[in-house]
Amino acid sequence: MPVRHFLTLKDLSPTELNSLISRAIEMKKAHKSGAVQAPFKHKTLGMIFEKSSTRTRVSFEAGMTQLGGSSIFLSPRDTQLGRGEPIEDSARVLSRMVDIIMIRTFAHQTLERFAQYSDVPVINALTDDFHPCQLLADIQTFTEHRGSIQGKTVAWIGDGNNMCNSYINAASCLDFQLNISSPAGYEPNAELLQNNKSNVAFISKPEDAVKGADLVATDVWASMGQEDEQTRRRAAFGAYQVNNKLMQHAANNALFMHCLPAHRGEEISEEMLDSNYSVVWDEAENRLHSQKALLEFLLNNAN
Ligand code: CP
Ligand code: NVA
Repeated sequence: MPVRHFLTLKDLSPTELNSLISRAIEMKKAHKSGAVQAPFKHKTLGMIFEKSSTRTRVSFEAGMTQLGGSSIFLSPRDTQLGRGEPIEDSARVLSRMVDIIMIRTFAHQTLERFAQYSDVPVINALTDDFHPCQLLADIQTFTEHRGSIQGKTVAWIGDGNNMCNSYINAASCLDFQLNISSPAGYEPNAELLQNNKSNVAFISKPEDAVKGADLVATDVWASMGQEDEQTRRRAAFGAYQVNNKLMQHAANNALFMHCLPAHRGEEISEEMLDSNYSVVWDEAENRLHSQKALLEFLLNNAN
């Protein structure tokens, strides 16, 4: 059997995705009750970070420790990756030494090339195009607070970026309605929108996109790698801030999510993270539990 990777949410079937979320919720409960679940003694996770990270690094490292294994942090600054060793060679070498690999990089194609040459499962820990691990945590968080997301309405406000693209995949895998509102020139990938149009609508006005939404989500206006566009983006995104006024158009018990880190006063108002709508701290914590379920799924399938 070919090795299973997790490069986008579409690498899992809807059934697999749903059972992974249930398993994450179960593992979280067990962990909180003090149970030790360490089936992966002597297994090693390789972690390649070509961009910065707090949550992803700590949740993967802590998760692997809790599962009984260990992890190795690799950055281009101090590996041969930064000196131009081809990604294909790095994949062949690393996958002969470790049991599973996660990568945070720029071009999604780099991740795909790495996965093509890897003998062990590869996890997308964020590329310019997708951030599927964050979606696992978001779906887990929604499920814990409100039950199944199937048939619900989600509004994505702001940049049509890697998070937005992953929400599009999630809408189609888990059958919810996704309303996206982005400024002109910052819409999500057109082909992805077209391919998932039965679950996804593009709605220009943020107030209309949020109407009746059970969940409102947003992200920074300038992602990693877009630092030099910050001023231009700030001007374009002014009308797309998620604040109390916008949230009033959502459903009565709407939730608010943000993958973090957030810029208060830009994509969200000062109070949003601590508002009654916000579940962002649970969302951040669930990176740990959902990725433990993902590591378990991939490692068990690799044997
Ligand atoms: N949400 C997220 O991926 O955070 P980090 O960049 O801190 O890993
Ligand atoms: N869209 C953001 C997400 C950070 C977790 C970025 O790519 O920088």
